[in-house]
Amino acid sequence: MGVPFSIRGLDKKFGGLAAVQNVDLDLQEGVTTALVGPNGAGKTTLFNLATGHIIPDGGEVLLDGKSVLGQSPHLIARMGVARSFQDLRLFGRMSVRDNVRAAIEPTAWLWQPGGGSAARKREAAVDAALDRCGLTKQADARAVDLAYAERKFLSVARILATGARIWLLDEPASGLDPHSRARFVQLVRDAVAEGVTICLIEHNLDIVTELADRIAFLDRGAKLAEGAPQEILRDPKLIGIYFGEQRT
Ligand SMILES: Nc1ncnc2c1ncn2[C@@H]1O[C@H](COP(=O)(O)OP(=O)(O)O)[C@@H](O)[C@H]1O
Ligand SMILES: [Mg+2]
Repeated sequence: MGVPFSIRGLDKKFGGLAAVQNVDLDLQEGVTTALVGPNGAGKTTLFNLATGHIIPDGGEVLLDGKSVLGQSPHLIARMGVARSFQDLRLFGRMSVRDNVRAAIEPTAWLWQPGGGSAARKREAAVDAALDRCGLTKQADARAVDLAYAERKFLSVARILATGARIWLLDEPASGLDPHSRARFVQLVRDAVAEGVTICLIEHNLDIVTELADRIAFLDRGAKLAEGAPQEILRDPKLIGIYFGEQRT
C-alpha cells in the first residue's frame, strides 16, 4: 500500500504556544485515519499546515513523496487533497449548486479549458455530489437557508465533486442528528470503497470506531500515540487526557 500523503516532523508555534510539535503522520492509501485529542490539541492546525493554509516553522509535507511545502492551498487542492473546515466556509448567498461548482474550479468557472464536453462532465460531477449528499432538492436554495445538517453535507459535496483522492475532514459530523450521522458514515464508507484516503478530526468516538482504521492521538501539539482504534481507545491514560482529567 502506498503512502500518498505524509507529514514529517511538523512544527508550528503561535507566539510562545507550540500548537504542533514534531508531528509525523502517514496517510496510507485506502486507510481511514482519525485525529483524536482534546480541544486545542493542534488538530486543525495540523490540517492547516498540511494544506498550505499555514506555513510550518519546520518539517515536511509530502504528497506522493514530493514536498509540497510552501505551495498554495489552491495548488495542493488541485493535486488531489481536499479539505473541509470546522466553520464550513460556504458561500452563504450563493446557491447550493454554485457552492459545489465553485469548489471544482474556484477561479474560472465560466471559461474552462476543454470546452463543452468538459463543462458537461463537471456539471455531472456536481449533480452526482449533490445527489449523494441528499441535496438535489435544495440545489437552487441559498446555502445560508439550509438546515445545519444540510450545510455540513454541502461541505462534503464540495469535496466529493472535486474527485480528490485525499480528504481531510475537520469535525464533519459534529452536531449531526443520528439520521444524518448514519448518512455521513455511509458517505465516507462509499468514498473509501472508491479508493479515497481519508483523515478526519472527530470527537464522537462512536463515529471514530465505525470509520477509522487508525487513530493518531494528539495532545498539546504532540502526537502521543498512534495505532488501531481498539488499542488507542482502551488506553486509560489517553482516555483520561481525552476526557480532561487533571494533569500535572
Ligand atoms: N491562528 C492562530 N493564532 C494563534 N493561536 C492559534 C491559532 N490557531 C490555533 N491557535 C492555538 O493553537 C492551539 C491548537 O489549536 P487547534 O489546532 O485549533 O486545536 P484543535 O483543532 O485540536 O482544537 C490552540 O491553543 C489554539 O488556541
Ligand atoms: Mg479544531
